[in-house]
Amino acid sequence: VLAFDQLAAEGYITARSGSGTFVTPDLPDGRPHSDAGSGRWRARRPAIAGRGRELAASPATIVKIDGPPRAFRIGTPALDRFPVHVWSTLVARRLRSATRGALDYAPGVGIAPLRNAIAAHVSRARGTLCSPDQVVVVAGAQHGLHLICQLLLDPGDRAWMEDPGYPGARAAMAAAGAEISAVPVDGEGLGIDRHRQRTPRLIYVTPSHQFPLGVTMSLARRLSLLAFARDADAWIVEDDYDSEFRYGARPSPSLHGLDPDGRVIYVGSFSKTLFPALRLGYLILPLDLVEAFRIARRATDIHTPVLEQAVVAEFMAEGHYERHLRRMRVEYRARRDALVQAVRRHCDGALSLREVTTGLHALADLTETEAERVSGDAFARGVEAMPLSAYRHGRRAVTESLVLGFGAIRPELVEAGIQTLAETIEGLTGRARRGAADRRAAARRADRRR
Ligand SMILES: Cc1ncc(COP(=O)(O)O)c(C=O)c1O
Repeated sequence: VLAFDQLAAEGYITARSGSGTFVTPDLPDGRPHSDAGSGRWRARRPAIAGRGRELAASPATIVKIDGPPRAFRIGTPALDRFPVHVWSTLVARRLRSATRGALDYAPGVGIAPLRNAIAAHVSRARGTLCSPDQVVVVAGAQHGLHLICQLLLDPGDRAWMEDPGYPGARAAMAAAGAEISAVPVDGEGLGIDRHRQRTPRLIYVTPSHQFPLGVTMSLARRLSLLAFARDADAWIVEDDYDSEFRYGARPSPSLHGLDPDGRVIYVGSFSKTLFPALRLGYLILPLDLVEAFRIARRATDIHTPVLEQAVVAEFMAEGHYERHLRRMRVEYRARRDALVQAVRRHCDGALSLREVTTGLHALADLTETEAERVSGDAFARGVEAMPLSAYRHGRRAVTESLVLGFGAIRPELVEAGIQTLAETIEGLTGRARRGAADRRAAARRADRRR
C-alpha cells in the first residue's frame, strides 16, 4: 500500500474507483522541471505588490566596492582591531557546553543574561535608567526600526525624518506605509517648525551624533523636542548608533534619559561597538509596549539566534566589551587625527573637514567642485566617498560635501585615500578651469568672426 501511495503521489499511477490502478500515460519524468533560476517564465504571474515595489525601489544605503573595507567606507568599524581570539574562545566554550535545552525556541525578547547586560550598560553609559524588562533584543538597529514602524505607525500616518538623514530609517517608515516629512537639520539637530510640517505620529532622530551631518542635539532642542512630542502626542525614536565613540568630551546623555512620559524609544546597535555581521541590536521600550513587540516578532523572526546572544552576554559580563570600547576610542581618535592631518597635507583648501567629536565618520566640504562628480570619479579610482546629497530626503539642497568614514580604515590607508581624493578633485577643478577657458576662447573667436 505504501509503495502504491508513493507512486500515486509522484504521478506514476492513477487510481480510478471501481476500475483499477493504471500507469499514467503522461509519466512525470517527461514533464518540464521548474526553471525558476533561468528567469524564463511560461505563464503570466501576479505582479509584485505596490508596497513591495516601493520597498524594492528604496535607494541603496551606501555604495561599496567589493572586498575588504577601503577608504572611506561608512558604517563599518575597525574590524582589523576586533579581538577575534577572545570571541572565538567564547563561541567555542559555548558550543562545547551546549545542552539539548539550548537548542529549543528561546524568549522572543532576548535571553535574560543579555537583557541584563544591556540594561546595566545603557544605565551606566548612556545616562538613562532602564530595567532588563524594558530591553528587547533585535537583529540589528534596522530590524528594530522596522518593528517600531510596523507597530507604531498606521499606513498614511505622518512620520518626521531628519533631512539629510539615515536612509534605513526612511526605508522602515516607507515599508509601514507612512507619509514621510523631510525635516531640516540645523546646527542644533532636527529643527522643529510646527507651522511648516504636518503634525507627526512618530519622529526619528539621531541626537547624540546626527547622521550624516555629525551635529549633537543641544539640550534646549532636546527639551523642546520632548515638549513638542508631548503636545503632538507623537513617539520619538532615538537612534543611538555610534555615540559610544566620543573624543575629548564626555558622551552626551541620551534623550531617553530626559523623557518623563515613556514616549522615547531608544535604539541601540552592536554593529559599531562589535561588528555588523553579528546582526544584533536592542530596543529600550516603555514597559507597556514590550508585550506587543514580543508578540509581533512572531510575524518576523521569532527571536534572534541564541548562540550569538549568549556570546555577547558573556563578552559583556566578563568585561571584554568595556575593554574593547576603551581601546577603540583610542584607535578611532588616531584614525580621525590621521584623516585631519592628511586633508591638511594634501587638499590645500579644496576640501575642508568639519570638526569630528563623535562617531566614525566625518563631513568634508568641497570648495570648488560638485560632490557627486568627485564621488563618481573617486569611486572609479577605488575610493568610496559618498556625496552628502545621497542622504537628502526632501527637495532642499545640501552643501557640496562628502561623507567620509574613517573607522574601518587604517591610518596608512587614510593617507593614500586622501591623496587619491585630492588628485580626483584636482582633475575635476583643472578640467573645470580648462572648460571655462575653452568656452571663453570660443566666445572670443565667435566675436571676431562677427
Ligand atoms: C544612523 C544609523 N542607524 C543605524 C545603523 C545600523 O545599524 P544596524 O547595523 O544595527 O542595523 C547605522 C549603520 O551604519 C546608522 O548609520
